[in-house]
Amino acid sequence: MDERNSMINIKSCISSSVMQNLIEIFPKNITDTSYNLTVTRPGLTQGEMKICFFSDIHCCVTHGEPERIMEILHEEEPDLVLCGGDCVDADSFAFSRGMQKHSDNVYTERRGKQSHPDDVYTAQQGNQTYPGDVYAAQRGYDDHLEEMASMLNRIAADYPLYLALGNHETRMRAQRERFGDRYDDFINSLHTDNITILDNRNAEMDIRGIPVRIYGFTMRAKYYARLHHVEMPPVELREALGVPDPEAVNMLLAHNPACRNACVKWGADLTLSGHYHGGIMRIGKHRGAVTPDFRIFSPNAYGWFENGGKHVIITSGAGEHTIPVRIANPREIVSITLHVCGGHTNH
Ligand SMILES: [Fe+2]
Repeated sequence: MDERNSMINIKSCISSSVMQNLIEIFPKNITDTSYNLTVTRPGLTQGEMKICFFSDIHCCVTHGEPERIMEILHEEEPDLVLCGGDCVDADSFAFSRGMQKHSDNVYTERRGKQSHPDDVYTAQQGNQTYPGDVYAAQRGYDDHLEEMASMLNRIAADYPLYLALGNHETRMRAQRERFGDRYDDFINSLHTDNITILDNRNAEMDIRGIPVRIYGFTMRAKYYARLHHVEMPPVELREALGVPDPEAVNMLLAHNPACRNACVKWGADLTLSGHYHGGIMRIGKHRGAVTPDFRIFSPNAYGWFENGGKHVIITSGAGEHTIPVRIANPREIVSITLHVCGGHTNH
């Protein structure tokens, strides 16, 4: 009997350890990733601040994410919250994901595809072909956008929130024939005064007596190309944002980490990026298996980088998109304790 019990114990230990390993390899929870960074530059006011940063939620807010995100924010008590873009979803799959919300109309897209087999906008066209299905995909999609906006409003009820635009917001804004007025509707539904959209703009503020300027860079579509990658020159940042403020800590929200070197050359003390989702599977400290722009084993997929006293953080993102798989690459909120020194830099 004892032998039998010990066999059962061994089996249950093995299965719980396998489960634990699987959870670590295929994480689903949102983690809180902390960094302690120092910015040293003559003329800066000495002090300390706390910032929370997230990116790439892609409307993933229906499985407890808002509660988890608020839990992390309340634990960290940041002075402000920054978002690196891609709150929304604006690609070929966006409408069909929306359709899952209204499963009574699940045949709409399939029937539409039979009518338009060679067209990437099949879901939309399909719905137009079958108006009796009451535009299920669009309805589900609009629900997702509404839920996303309400999460941002919830954050902003407690913390000042600064949002930059990712490629999904800019695509939604540019492709009106496909997305209608949804970009405007989404922005207008961010109704609190505590949300600032930084679309090639900056915001100036004092945090605990330290002058800070936050820049939001909206990168042009050609630098997001999937097949013919074009390196973005630093002049793009100068043209869009001017030059960094010599008397303030300069934080730059730049969605695409492919422009990491340009951001450092431009002069940001702290650059915050996302977009790559950690490359699906994390390899070592920085590499990811494959990025959304089809870079294989990119060295810019994740983590903290420092160059001449300038910091860059690339987040794995807080949501999922297109390929809902993460291997050793959890979703995260980034918490940064920033120490500011006004002395001479060693670099
Ligand atoms: Fe993105």
